Amino acid sequence: MTKHMITRIPDMLFGADYNPEQWDAETISQDIALMVEAGVNIVTLPVFSWSRIEPEFNSFDFQWLDDVIEKLWEANISIDLATATATPPAWLVREHPEMLPVNRDGIRLEFGSRQSYCPSSLIWREHCARMATKMVERYAEHPAIVMWHVSNEYGDHISRCYCEESSRDFRKWLQSRYQTVDALNRAWGTTSWGQIYSSFDQIKAPTIAPGPINPSQTLDFDRFSSDALLELFRVEVDVIRSHNSSTPITTNFMSFFKDLDYWTFADLEDVVSDDAYPDPSDPNAYLDAALNYSLMRSLKNQPWLLLEQAPSAVSWRELNAPKPPGTMRLFSMQAIAHGSDGVMYFQWRAGRFGTEKFHSAILGHRGTQSRTWRECSALGNELKNLSELVGTKVSTPIAMLADWNSRWALGTPEAMPSEAFNWMDLAKSWNSALASQGLQVDIVRPQTDMIAYKVLLVPNAYLIDSITSEFLKSFVSAGGIAVVGPFSGVVDENDHVHFGGAPGPISELLGISVDEWWPIVDGQHELVELDGLQFNVSRWSEWVELGTATNLGIYISGHLKGKPSVTTNKFGKGIAIYVSADVDANGLDAIFRHVVKAANIQSLCDRVPSGLDMTIRSDGKQDYLIAVNFSDVPSQLPTWVTGLELCTQQHLGENSHVGAQDVVIVKLENNHQWS
Ligand code: GLA
Repeated sequence: MTKHMITRIPDMLFGADYNPEQWDAETISQDIALMVEAGVNIVTLPVFSWSRIEPEFNSFDFQWLDDVIEKLWEANISIDLATATATPPAWLVREHPEMLPVNRDGIRLEFGSRQSYCPSSLIWREHCARMATKMVERYAEHPAIVMWHVSNEYGDHISRCYCEESSRDFRKWLQSRYQTVDALNRAWGTTSWGQIYSSFDQIKAPTIAPGPINPSQTLDFDRFSSDALLELFRVEVDVIRSHNSSTPITTNFMSFFKDLDYWTFADLEDVVSDDAYPDPSDPNAYLDAALNYSLMRSLKNQPWLLLEQAPSAVSWRELNAPKPPGTMRLFSMQAIAHGSDGVMYFQWRAGRFGTEKFHSAILGHRGTQSRTWRECSALGNELKNLSELVGTKVSTPIAMLADWNSRWALGTPEAMPSEAFNWMDLAKSWNSALASQGLQVDIVRPQTDMIAYKVLLVPNAYLIDSITSEFLKSFVSAGGIAVVGPFSGVVDENDHVHFGGAPGPISELLGISVDEWWPIVDGQHELVELDGLQFNVSRWSEWVELGTATNLGIYISGHLKGKPSVTTNKFGKGIAIYVSADVDANGLDAIFRHVVKAANIQSLCDRVPSGLDMTIRSDGKQDYLIAVNFSDVPSQLPTWVTGLELCTQQHLGENSHVGAQDVVIVKLENNHQWS
């Protein structure tokens, strides 16, 4: 069995962010005793504590942190040790006000919140390296430290900075990408709207202009800004690795956060971790959460860690609904079902002051009287039964492409055929339709080895460069089935439209060409026919011309009546399907049923009841079926599911159920065969 990447803890990780600097010694001792009672085996600290550790330049106070670490370790609690660089101390900002970020409106953002830094600031990077060095020199050898936690949610508050230093850094980045200003002019198409540059010095970060900003420039600014935070991350990763190579490094992600290309961040770290805050007032939140977790387990193709979730309500939505009784357990088990090797929270103890004083915690303001305490401590103890899942992976023969460059390129909506077109919405609806057939996706990028996959879903790939087109073609020609969604193959890596129109370099693969995009007015819909059934399409449709492809479906209403809507084309040993519209859930279901049958994939069951999330984790030899039932009624499990249920340690026979708002984790007697 693949074992935990955090090798010193053989069990599911269970713990929380802890802010001991907000509490006195007596409370800290109480906290640690309660952590033991709740089954906590890891805590994250000191994320926001730079100003407490170094109250003045070069004057350090580590004693309080030493004491907490010792006490935790005496209680056998390990530590995900933050480098404390999530936010700078006031003295640093006052000494170097130029390191404060500037927003798009040109306003320099004041100290008094968090993340008060420009990602490109050399002063900030220098001080982060200095702080990380101090932390690593002091604590690298401590047996409690099982993971390094660098910064916190990069880009959460500041992912794009428009200050002079960012502009300088952007120019440097552009010079290294293009070498000459002529090459940049070509890439940015500056002959449009008269924007030709005669020197790199004339370029600034794209703030606000009289009209929409050149989309090629915006695309490069998105790439640069993601890279700027990546470079900041690299500064600390290099420091840690140069002192201590064996302790894994993580930085906590924010699910499918658009602003940062998480593939590049994951390449730099050892453990992928995510902060997941599904909205308890959204009954479909579990479906989107599943897609986020697909990304997390795929970024390094290994188990990941749910590093933060809310015990109940958050404090940053317009309305912060609590998690109803039992829901936190379900969301936690769902993360485990999708490959997390633990469950951690923001936060251990609710603060009495500050911006997050109304954010839930394991220990709320009522302490152990609170419902969150009862539910969290029960879960911590329940997870002790799941150690054998640690290191196992979710397996699926279906992949979905996620390319940040393409997402960013879609990012000038005011210059698109429709502002309503959105990659994330399509990805979610495609994933949900597939999940309702008992199937999950892994997320892939063009570099991914596709040997394990039979189907590749591409809800949209607006930007297709030569690497992506080769990736798609070689997958299909080797026998795979690709399903490509609307508005794909439109532009190249510079956001220049492909000659001959969409789908550009994959026209031959799909056997079609697109004559015109036909966006659908908000609130209206058209109809398509597939397999003799009618389905709605909204927001988007296209005038498609057949080449070598044949029709799977046609439009049966509106201006496109009688034209192809869904097409299929043989290419090499495989098949390439094109879906030219934003098809409703039932239509997607019909398309995917066709695909799953053609690929000869055996899903977990024919139709997953609404509210049920079902996955398989496996070590390659032993499969575990995990069914999490978010609905208010019991759900029938597939008849073939039998084996030992890990939470109750009871044998589960054929035709069993998972109760309403409950979970079963079955060590299967018969492994599932995907084909
Ligand atoms: C994020 C941050 C935490 C905290 C939580 C609140 O995940 O990393 O510091 O602010 O949000 O939900």
